[in-house]
Amino acid sequence: MEQAKKQAYAGKRDFLGFSRLDAAKVIELFDYSLHIKQKRREHAAENTFLPLKGKTVAMIFNKPSLRTRVSFELGIHELGGYAINLEGKSIGVGSRESVEDIARLLSRYNDAIVARLHEHSIIEGLATHSSVPVINALTDLSHPCQVLADAFTLYERGLWHEGIKVVFVGDGNNVANSWIELAGILPFHFVLACPEGYTPDEGLLDAALAAGISRIEVTHDPEAAATDADVLYTDVWTSMGQEDELEERLKIFAPFQINSRLLSLANSSAVVMHCMPAHRGQEITAEVMDGPQSVIIDEAENRLHVQKALLVKLLNHEEYRKFHLTHRLLNAARNIKA
Ligand code: CP
Ligand code: NVA
Repeated sequence: MEQAKKQAYAGKRDFLGFSRLDAAKVIELFDYSLHIKQKRREHAAENTFLPLKGKTVAMIFNKPSLRTRVSFELGIHELGGYAINLEGKSIGVGSRESVEDIARLLSRYNDAIVARLHEHSIIEGLATHSSVPVINALTDLSHPCQVLADAFTLYERGLWHEGIKVVFVGDGNNVANSWIELAGILPFHFVLACPEGYTPDEGLLDAALAAGISRIEVTHDPEAAATDADVLYTDVWTSMGQEDELEERLKIFAPFQINSRLLSLANSSAVVMHCMPAHRGQEITAEVMDGPQSVIIDEAENRLHVQKALLVKLLNHEEYRKFHLTHRLLNAARNIKA
């Protein structure tokens, strides 16, 4: 029965992480995100581009959120769809009713499910039992929507290339894990500088190393890591659900702060990134967070554009394909002219 269900839904597209993508598909998604961003600027007043018209998306939030929730809800609205917000506590995922029943029911009502949960196994359960695409809006294990928007921010600035050195300074947490997962499909140089005992997920790290696509390093020396960096990235030291460890983490992570001294070791053109919410004075100083090398607010804005692109890819693949065919034809025509 389980196997039959998995097979029945095998063709549907989920976005739980990067394992089903490859470098070409990520770049395609970035090109589409650029198009979506441009379109929004040009047609802000009168939007006639509604590829999600008539579609609804159920959004389950079991943890707090500002960026993810607003960017998904707004993005779905702008594409002509309708988002239904469900507070995890009120529907009781796995407690009031089973993950399987929630997945089956929401699939009857909706065209996709966006979920922010603690256990990654629960989002995998939702994906197994739903007949509609499931999108990971953050779990304890990973945050792929965030890292997609981060890498896109570098891509749109013309900074993305195989040798780019991205240095994540801080906890080997869900965001770091997604960077590692990305490094398993898209070539770049990724360094994680974290305290001992705060290393990333071993399974994801081993898989990314085994893929042999990127140069990936894990170190406990933030200064060595930051030297010649093109990107200095950080996230909170205490993630949602770890609040009891706050005091201990403040002490352990103190040497892993992004400040002007650390930034001075990076390339002079380096950019500073943070997925937010940020704590000035902890993982990053106010001077760096609000300084000229910070692209942090662009990163947050790009969550909207990249997730809109992802939604069209998953929910209206015909529209997504049409864009890429036209894009390729235009590029070919340009090359012939040149
Ligand atoms: N970066 C991010 O996911 O922000 P929220 O937790 O506010 O959604
Ligand atoms: N690592 C953080 C990311 C917040 C967007 C957390 O899980 O709380």
